[in-house]
Amino acid sequence: MDYKAKVLAGLLAATCVFSFIALILSIVNVKDVILPPSTKYGMVFDAGSTHTTLYIYQWPADKENGTGIVSQVEACTVAGPGISSYADDPAGAGASLKPCLDKAMEIIPAEQQRETPTYLGATAGMRLLREQNSTKAQQVFAEVAKAIGEYPVEFRGAQVLTGNEEGSFSWISVNYLLETLVKYSFAEKWEHPQDAEVLGALDLGGASTQITFQPGVAIEDENTSVFFRLYGTNYSLYTHSYLCYGQTQALKRLLAALHQAFAGFYYTFHFLNLTSQQSLKDVNSTVQAFCKKDWAELVETFPQDKEYLHNYCSTAIYILTLLLDGYKFSEHTWSSIHFRQQAANTDIGWTLGFMLNLTNMIPTEALGHVKGHQPSLWAGAVSCIVLAIVAGLVAGFLQCFCKTK
Ligand SMILES: *[C@@H]1O[C@H](CO)[C@@H](O)[C@H](O)[C@H]1NC(C)=O
Ligand SMILES: *[C@@H]1O[C@H](CO)[C@@H](O)[C@H](O)[C@H]1NC(C)=O
Ligand SMILES: *[C@@H]1O[C@H](CO)[C@@H](O)[C@H](O)[C@H]1NC(C)=O
Ligand SMILES: *[C@@H]1O[C@H](CO)[C@@H](O)[C@H](O)[C@H]1NC(C)=O
Ligand SMILES: *[C@@H]1O[C@H](CO)[C@@H](O)[C@H](O)[C@H]1NC(C)=O
Ligand SMILES: *[C@@H]1O[C@H](CO)[C@@H](O)[C@H](O)[C@H]1NC(C)=O
Repeated sequence: MDYKAKVLAGLLAATCVFSFIALILSIVNVKDVILPPSTKYGMVFDAGSTHTTLYIYQWPADKENGTGIVSQVEACTVAGPGISSYADDPAGAGASLKPCLDKAMEIIPAEQQRETPTYLGATAGMRLLREQNSTKAQQVFAEVAKAIGEYPVEFRGAQVLTGNEEGSFSWISVNYLLETLVKYSFAEKWEHPQDAEVLGALDLGGASTQITFQPGVAIEDENTSVFFRLYGTNYSLYTHSYLCYGQTQALKRLLAALHQAFAGFYYTFHFLNLTSQQSLKDVNSTVQAFCKKDWAELVETFPQDKEYLHNYCSTAIYILTLLLDGYKFSEHTWSSIHFRQQAANTDIGWTLGFMLNLTNMIPTEALGHVKGHQPSLWAGAVSCIVLAIVAGLVAGFLQCFCKTK
């Protein structure tokens, strides 16, 4: 064999060897890799009687037994009063929402905005306006819908929530935040907690009070029963909303005070340092002692709370009356009541529960699968392919352009 034939044979042999090594490297130790789920977003406006808040939520697109693991991304407080205050200037209600919508557009990635479901739920204030003049309520809703419609989101409507809906969505929020519906286990996955007992929720607002719990027996009155399927588990709840329309001027003033956030039920008990599971006896004596103090002494002790000070005694007594005479809590069952404003750093309200229930309707996205390679093996395979190509090309070049002597 002459020199050229030897070189050619060597180059072809090298091409074969490198190709073979590349093949081996690319099939050993290949792993199936599941891509992390994409994130879905949703928005809920809580249109309360005194103000409106926009909550932005997110959840991983692969859900757990059909329901999303929802977390709060942002809460944006709309400047100005609640939308029901715009009865005589409906366009103003729409305009007031825009700064928060602008903020949301900065948070939600542009390519996902069009598929972001957006809802507006109104409570007591709009309920009242609708009773007084339903035309005005409709005009406010129309303007709000128009304003939201100017943004590239999937607006799914504005509605007045019933007291029962408000109560049952709050029940979902509380139980979700306290991890009785779903819990991240030591096995590093989401599971239905076997031994956790679901809690009942008492929602004590100024205009109404809601009670929601899982009774464990069949509920006969359809008007007070509500069904949810969350994370693959069925929940049949009893829920009832009592309207607190005060008959006397004094009670009206008291309820109006409770209605502003500042002197709500939680704040009253928080101010009196009664939110850490004190016994009913201690609660009673603290409230009695507080109510007996004279005004000058109170103002001197709590100068920074002067504005609300005159409400704390009456609201505390109202809370005790409602819980003991209304809901029939006793010395014995008192210890099961927890006063909470937040759980897991998230405000307890109806919006989280509302979003959670709605994720059931939003289609699950299948997770992406790819083949994964260790970087060193991958680099080796690529190098061998390059070498094989080079050897092959050189062989081809030799064959075509170098004449044999
Ligand atoms: C309700 O509001 C509309 C529009 O502002 C007004 O024309 C109408 O008279 C009001 N109706 C009542 C009963 O006040
Ligand atoms: C989903 O359903 C299965 C079977 O009912 C259950 O074992 C699992 O805990 C559920 N997952 C969640 C997150 O609740
Ligand atoms: C449920 O509510 C409807 C409408 O408010 C009422 O007509 C009906 O009597 C209620 N049912 C019961 C069992 O109370
Ligand atoms: C839960 O509810 C669904 C209907 O949403 C029903 O098909 C299913 O049988 C129920 N499961 C249990 C265990 O009751
Ligand atoms: C609550 O506790 C704080 C701190 O211990 C104390 O300064 C305040 O006076 C207490 N409030 C009442 C109403 O007793
Ligand atoms: C919860 O979501 C389902 C859709 O998954 C919906 O049909 C149902 O009406 C919602 N529940 C309430 C109380 O709104």
